[in-house]
Amino acid sequence: MFQQVQTAPPDAILGLNEAFRNDPNPEKINLSVGVYKDEQGVTPVLKCVKEAEKRLLEGETTKSYLPIDGRPGYNKAVRELMFGADHEVIAANRAVTVQSPGGTGALRVAGDFLADNFPGRTLWLSQPTWPNHPNIFSAAGIPLNTYPYFDKQTNGLAFEPMMETLGKAAKGDILLLHGCCHNPTGIDPTPDQWKAIGDLVQEKELLPLLDFAYQGFGDGLVEDAVGLRELARPGQEMLICSSFSKNFGLYNERVGALTAVATGESEAKAVLSQLKKVIRSNYSNPPTHGAATVETVLGDAALKTMWEGELAHMRDRINGIRKLFVDKISACGIDQDFSFIQKQKGMFSFSGLNQMQVDQLRNEMSIYIVGSGRINVAGISEANVDRLCEGIKRVIG
Ligand code: LMR
Repeated sequence: MFQQVQTAPPDAILGLNEAFRNDPNPEKINLSVGVYKDEQGVTPVLKCVKEAEKRLLEGETTKSYLPIDGRPGYNKAVRELMFGADHEVIAANRAVTVQSPGGTGALRVAGDFLADNFPGRTLWLSQPTWPNHPNIFSAAGIPLNTYPYFDKQTNGLAFEPMMETLGKAAKGDILLLHGCCHNPTGIDPTPDQWKAIGDLVQEKELLPLLDFAYQGFGDGLVEDAVGLRELARPGQEMLICSSFSKNFGLYNERVGALTAVATGESEAKAVLSQLKKVIRSNYSNPPTHGAATVETVLGDAALKTMWEGELAHMRDRINGIRKLFVDKISACGIDQDFSFIQKQKGMFSFSGLNQMQVDQLRNEMSIYIVGSGRINVAGISEANVDRLCEGIKRVIG
């Protein structure tokens, strides 16, 4: 039977990572997958994580299964970090959270839940979006459509075209939004634009689904939740897929969550029962270690302060690198204006390089960036920035 199996194309992001690993060039540069690196090119384990892990190892008494929906203390901490502990959504008990294997796991649980309970509803994706979004929701059997997001002329948000297109969505359609640090463009709506999106969601009776994977990487933990909190109006339903891969550096521990906000407590309970049904037939129940680590840090005032400091350090380094990158690009004699890179938020920069230029960078200089022209800014350092600028100069000729 397997003789008939066709080779699948490599993944648009993780496939590049594999190709990078196999590249023998000692000067190769990996700016593909969204993983933070320090100035030495290392993806560090945060100190607060190491300390929490030490405590967990000493205190661990069992390896028995977690509940289907994961650790209750973790789920509560997830909600409080996103909404703030005294938010109406929390006080009214109308939000439920399930622990998931990473943000991707949360997206797939959300997709299966939507396909089971609201078959045929269209899910709207920004154009462009994270390339795994269409994979996940197509696999769940959800019809997809797209709305414009990026304005090439201004290197900013195509807000009018976005709103105009979404005005054509049908009641009950699902609107996927990036909570902050849009992947791949690094362009987020302003607070006023979030308000207008919130109005449209209410008026058209859409269901917002927020992919919230970078809280704290844009402007700060509270600042980055501005869109989420704007959408969480009284009575409004929503789904949020969140992740601690980036802001806790817990990439390989797969620590995420899906939070569903319902109109009231009994509706939230019914949704939770459906989410548990999806999880049980998928991976049964989640792994504990990463979530226990996050729960320990967020539940201890000193560790939480330590985490906030380490997160701010990562954010500041990325913003410093943005400036360095823009300065170096203009210093090496490229006349094209790249100053917009400094306005983008989070780990990624949408460089404007096209697929041919991206291929040339990889083939001729072993510089790996995603086909859309997305650069992982966190992978740039003093040590590789000159070679990167030289490459960009070569390909934009
Ligand atoms: C990325 O966009 O590079 C990250 O979200 C990692 C991934 O899984 O693609």
